[in-house]
Amino acid sequence: MCGIFAYLNYNVPRSRKHILDTLVKGLQRLEYRGYDSAGVAVDGGNDKNWDNNSKVIQLIKKRGKVKALQDEIYKQDLLDFDIEFETHVGIAHTRWATHGEPNAVNSHPQRSDKNNEFVVIHNGIITNYKDLKKFLESKGYEFESETDTETIPKLLKYMYDNRESNEISLSTLVERVTQQLEGAFALVFKSVHFPGQVVGTRRGGPLLIGVQSKHKLSTDHIPVLYRCGKEKKAVSTLPRVDGDTCLYPIGEETGVEYYFASDASAIIEHTNRVIFLEDDDVAAVVDGRLSIHRIKRTAGDDPARAIQTLQMELQQIMKGSYSSFMQKEIFEQPESVVNTMRGRVNFDDFTGTVLLGGLKDHIREIRRCRRLIVIGCGTSYHAGVATRQILEELTELPVMVELSSDFLDRNTPVFRDDVCFFISQSGETADTLMALHYCKERGALTVGVTNTVGSSISRETDCGIHINAGPEVGVASTKAYTSQFVALVMFSLMMCDDRLSMQKRRQEIISALRTLPDLIKEVLALDDQINSLAHELYQQRSLLVMGRGFNYATCMEGALKIKEITYMHSEGILAGELKHGPLALVDKLMPVIMIIMKDPTHTKCQNALQQVVARKGRPILICEKNDDESKLLAYRTIELPHTVDCLQGVLTVIPLQLLSYHLAVLRGFDVDFPRNLAKSVTVE
Ligand code: F6R
Repeated sequence: MCGIFAYLNYNVPRSRKHILDTLVKGLQRLEYRGYDSAGVAVDGGNDKNWDNNSKVIQLIKKRGKVKALQDEIYKQDLLDFDIEFETHVGIAHTRWATHGEPNAVNSHPQRSDKNNEFVVIHNGIITNYKDLKKFLESKGYEFESETDTETIPKLLKYMYDNRESNEISLSTLVERVTQQLEGAFALVFKSVHFPGQVVGTRRGGPLLIGVQSKHKLSTDHIPVLYRCGKEKKAVSTLPRVDGDTCLYPIGEETGVEYYFASDASAIIEHTNRVIFLEDDDVAAVVDGRLSIHRIKRTAGDDPARAIQTLQMELQQIMKGSYSSFMQKEIFEQPESVVNTMRGRVNFDDFTGTVLLGGLKDHIREIRRCRRLIVIGCGTSYHAGVATRQILEELTELPVMVELSSDFLDRNTPVFRDDVCFFISQSGETADTLMALHYCKERGALTVGVTNTVGSSISRETDCGIHINAGPEVGVASTKAYTSQFVALVMFSLMMCDDRLSMQKRRQEIISALRTLPDLIKEVLALDDQINSLAHELYQQRSLLVMGRGFNYATCMEGALKIKEITYMHSEGILAGELKHGPLALVDKLMPVIMIIMKDPTHTKCQNALQQVVARKGRPILICEKNDDESKLLAYRTIELPHTVDCLQGVLTVIPLQLLSYHLAVLRGFDVDFPRNLAKSVTVE
């Protein structure tokens, strides 16, 4: 969904062209999240005197792609692109429309007034914006957009116009504004009244700050300043920027550059040193010094923010020789599942130890729990469905798998002796995050299974598993699914490692995990065959995917991939339900994909196959190589290698990932940016 990027250079001379190019590049790195318009704000004057220059803010906004914004920027003959700034703040945004259609006026940055005194970029939703708007209109403020966001810079200007002292800082004003906001947000501000300064804050949406300097930095932990108790008076004064309360470079010419972003992928090419902000942190850069404030201190608050080193590489978020991120990520699966298992499964030890470091201190408590609840949306939910059976078998606990939104709608009863898993690639999905808050309030132990270090879900859960699949850029989730799958299978193995009666089964699964990456490669080698199947199917309107048992999740996940990127109707059908309704859809024209593997459901799947053939259906089978019995009835087959039943789903989903990819390409759609969808769904 929306993306935030801001760039501040302090005592590092940069041309306006360099600044704008940096902002545009930042937005390009966020494009994968999904958006429909984009904009930037930079200092607008052409005067060589920096002070005069920063008294005007130039806003450039455009509906459509970042490329369209870039063209618009360079059409601006008002701007001197060669002019140099010793110090400058630029902010940039990609917007995914929620309130108001995608157009230039509704895009961000949003402004306080026609003179652009305060401008802001915002991810999230302000739920009380109507009340704020009414209040501001009653004070004479005029609104120009349909957005909830516009209330924020206007409220800031109201606070500024009604300030009690000229000494007030931008961060204090921002604190006051955020106290009035309800909803979820990550915000970055710029103002003509505070040249060379930037302020960022968050509540419920991610925001991180990258720092880059040739000089040594003053500290690797920034202590958080609290404005409470005795310090209350400090509210109206400038933030303290002395000693170790802030971060600053040490040296003769203390140049420093800061990058604020909602996503690490926009920062990584500049620096790997980052600070993740917590909810209600207000981070301000004044005179090149970064300080972090909070309104009040609550028990359990971490008193400092560490500068962390991002492990991500730039090349991980580049497409390389692939035509799309989705294709690249499908083909990365032999390595991404290895990375999920790396250092966690001991294949050499005959007892087959599985150790998930993030859970080891809680595993006894988890073993004692009354039930496991696995919660997620979309593909992440399917990973829960795919592993429910093995979780039930190896933990001998009741396992509920829930869609986050439905779980919340039902006010599902949750108890202190429940353990709740939150599955999320991004770690930021609003519904899943709200389900996490709901379960925490009821005292359950919470476990995050995410792919994003520092994400809200990974930080707010009691413990968790990082799936280590590497950045997933394509909107359609692929490698995160197989890694979530493997992570949950590893968890079930860890749960029963002390159970003698389970050892044989554990060994069978652990040996299968060892060979899994090679088997994935074998399945990927079928790409040409799947491409030719796609040529046969791409003009169809509908596609049914049927299976049962360990492969029911593959049917739902395959159908989701097909509908989201090819815009064809597709349904994942539990083969056991066929005669209770869906059989009515089957005729000689309806394409049906059936997943039949040699596991305990084989005979029942064959019955379903017979029923489809009897209605003149022409089934395309995803089956095992030596399943001659099923092949006899098939119209076409995709033959897969054998693995243990509970891991088959990792192999059976890959042909459907590839099929959806080829179908989308043949139908002429942008595989990485499906219409109406966003990578990270940060609104309910
Ligand atoms: C489908 C897809 C979505 C996500 C869902 C949850 O390809 O990507 O269905 O799986 O929006 O997202 P996360 O896993 O980030 O919580």
